Amino acid sequence: MTTPLHETTLASKPSGDVLAIRGGRPLHGRVDVKGAKNLATKAMVATLLGETASTLRDVPDLSDVAVVRSLLEVHGVRVTEGDEPGALVFDPSDVESAHFEEIDAHAGASRIPILFCGPLLHRLGQAFIPDLGGCRIGDRPIDFHLDALRKFGAVVEKLPSGIRLSAPNGLKGANIHLPYPSVGATEQVLLTAVRAQGQTELRNAAIEPEIMDLIAVLQKMGAIISYEPNRVILIEGVETLRGYDHRSIFDRNEAASWACAALATDGEIFVGGAKQQEMLTFLNVFRKAGGWFDVREDGILFRRDGELKPVIVETDVHPGFMTDWQQPLVVALTQAPGRSVVHETVYENRMGFTAALVKMGADIVVHPHGLQDGPRRVARRDLEQAAVITGPTPLHGADIVVPDLRGGYSHVIAALTATGESKVSGVDILSRGYEKFLDKLTALGADFDVIG
Ligand code: EPU
Repeated sequence: MTTPLHETTLASKPSGDVLAIRGGRPLHGRVDVKGAKNLATKAMVATLLGETASTLRDVPDLSDVAVVRSLLEVHGVRVTEGDEPGALVFDPSDVESAHFEEIDAHAGASRIPILFCGPLLHRLGQAFIPDLGGCRIGDRPIDFHLDALRKFGAVVEKLPSGIRLSAPNGLKGANIHLPYPSVGATEQVLLTAVRAQGQTELRNAAIEPEIMDLIAVLQKMGAIISYEPNRVILIEGVETLRGYDHRSIFDRNEAASWACAALATDGEIFVGGAKQQEMLTFLNVFRKAGGWFDVREDGILFRRDGELKPVIVETDVHPGFMTDWQQPLVVALTQAPGRSVVHETVYENRMGFTAALVKMGADIVVHPHGLQDGPRRVARRDLEQAAVITGPTPLHGADIVVPDLRGGYSHVIAALTATGESKVSGVDILSRGYEKFLDKLTALGADFDVIG
């Protein structure tokens, strides 16, 4: 396997974390997106459930993937190269308990470890989950996960360094109604219910394309899962599962990010591997914001269609406009004449990245408790935020620090849109979700140096 991105592209140059970016040059060219971070990491956890080895294809070279790989290895899963680049084979025949310290040391800044609960309970009868990392974009509680696990019969013990779970009487199918269609909690239920005894009915489930792909993975393993159009998923538990061979769904978050980079810098980017079906909602908003796209057999071409236009967007669970799409879009909206509004309804703290854009000259006012005015498609949640973006505002270079994965991407795109030089620190975090990020920027003609 090639050395992970965060160990080469970013880290082998000085320390890889700080870029000097000279903006004002449109990005032009082709980038290819591989498997989705938000499927690959979960499909890797699913390998624990099989009696035989699984092959996952198009695994992206990301630090989150490296974290899950090492957590699997700590639990005795043998991970080897597959029969093509980007394919990994996971052999779970020697799964064993790992020590708390070892798990803690390998959990990294990821939230995926919480999804090990069900599979480890099935395999070993117990699980230890360290305190979770992940982007600081809100409280990110795990109450839905723990409530669901308790319904399956798990005993949850909170420790100072994490949680310990056991299942003295095994895991049994349950009726679960999620308070909110959480992606992670839906995956938790799926990964637990497939081998629980009896039937599980999950209501108010998340139905993101990555979840549908995880269902496909589990079905290949022998699971029996059906779903109804009203967010209800039914799982009939089976005693054993086998390994799978699966090619991951493409990363639509990365595809949307590059589309917005074309829009913001007034460039033209062909995103190889992007597919229309999973991006319908994004493409509608992209078009309304003044974007032009051409869907082709092997990807989608993105550029502007004349002048940019202001839009009003509400983030939502699928099939709504994803929360991970708003940050790069906001950069483009700073260049659109008029007033745009982005309502963030999924996380309570996902507008922090706009402070750097304001420092660069953008006119963005964040309403920390949302905007009450005007009709809304998505029901208001208590944790809502809204950003009002008034454009067009020329952006100028500045010293900025990356706050989180998607916010960080938007910072880099803002620096590429701005005139003059920006110093962007903390770029290493992008290796969590953007494969070969600096190589892709170079391929698109971005003018930057790694300076720290
Ligand atoms: N929530 C709770 N309790 C829970 C779980 C979630 O209150 O037990 C709340 C969250 O605080 C949030 C909302 O429910 O307000 C939605 O959270 P969800 O569980 O859906 O998110 P997640 O599974 O933690 C995944 C992605 C995120 C993506 C969201 C929404 C992964 C590893 N992460 O997070 O991706 O934004 O779904 O689609 O799949 C990213 O890729 O940068 C990223 C943050």
